[in-house]
Amino acid sequence: MVQKAVLVTGGAGYIGSHTVIELLNAGREVVIYDNLDNSSYEAVRRIEKITGKAPIFYKADILDKKALLEVFGRHAIDSVIHFAGLKAVGESTQIPLDYYYNNITGTIILLQAMKESNVKNIVFSSSATVYGEPPVIPIPETSPTDAKSPYGRTKLFVEHIIRDLCTAEKDWNAGLLRYFNPAGAHPSGILGENPTGIPNNLMPFLAQVAVGKREFLSVFGDDYPTRDGTCIRDYIHVVDLAKGHLAALKKLEENPGCVEYNLGTGVGSTVLEMIHAFDKAVGRELPYKIVARRAGDVPNLTADPTLANKELGWKAELSLDDACNSLWNWQSNNPQGLEGFPADAPKEAVINYL
Ligand code: UD1
Repeated sequence: MVQKAVLVTGGAGYIGSHTVIELLNAGREVVIYDNLDNSSYEAVRRIEKITGKAPIFYKADILDKKALLEVFGRHAIDSVIHFAGLKAVGESTQIPLDYYYNNITGTIILLQAMKESNVKNIVFSSSATVYGEPPVIPIPETSPTDAKSPYGRTKLFVEHIIRDLCTAEKDWNAGLLRYFNPAGAHPSGILGENPTGIPNNLMPFLAQVAVGKREFLSVFGDDYPTRDGTCIRDYIHVVDLAKGHLAALKKLEENPGCVEYNLGTGVGSTVLEMIHAFDKAVGRELPYKIVARRAGDVPNLTADPTLANKELGWKAELSLDDACNSLWNWQSNNPQGLEGFPADAPKEAVINYL
């Protein structure tokens, strides 16, 4: 059988690039499709350094249907892993239309282009944010859904859209992967999260405090109903998360229809526990201050990953220390992230009909 390629939208981003590495290491052919809006072509060069294989790359937008059709026409693609999208929760409350247009309209256009190209397997990058404030911890996939931000609602609406499509057309298969909190970096130390501007998320912010780029970490609230008053999250090593996508792709070969899975470890950590775990990796105590709660944060998001363990044969294997050590290895070797390296793609990789 001729090996078919996987199209990875957003494949130059944080989770996308780590997933591309796992796909290439598993011998899959990969086509990256990314508009480089919030990522750098340098990530693609580093994927090649790590794997010794050059993924096919297009700089193009998921809103550009003609570009999508052209790429599907050029390669024998049989499945799509869809990461592309805007992802900052706070920003989504300021510019909701941009979020709905990019994340929802963009996904509809991608699904239309897939249908016209007869590609009907999709793995979608969803989020634990779809659980809102869950009634039961750890959270099973059957927990009620209720997203609290425009960003979260884009994830939830896209889940509904894909599920409706699979119900209407039985030849579609979809894996909706609800990520908990990705952390860590590639063990090579040359690839990791590369936030532009001030990081919104805990671990990249803490990493920038450690290299002296930020003065201290603000801990958003210590009056939550948790063991130390700070919020609990389920931090999962990005390499484990990446491997979950391979397991989901395999699952789609069984024609399961639309299935959703939590990708988490099942173990929650508080903000203070994360600070201390990262202190250990860095070898000194990092400065932090307790400040007011951040709007929209919920006390506890911890996965029940049993379904993914059973049905995908996948389990998070790396520890919190692995995540902290790899993050520190990446951040200390690359204090400016990928800044300073040519960020744009080669001209021949650009397709733009918008
Ligand atoms: C959020 C989104 C999630 C999204 C993820 C990545 C929600 C509920 N979650 O996760 O959907 O996929 O971002 O963009 O919308 N914290 C601090 N100080 C900081 C930063 C964070 O104390 O400077 C705390 C937060 O209050 C929270 C924890 O650290 O308790 C984790 O925050 P963060 O890394 O931003 O992730 P989430 O908010 O869980």
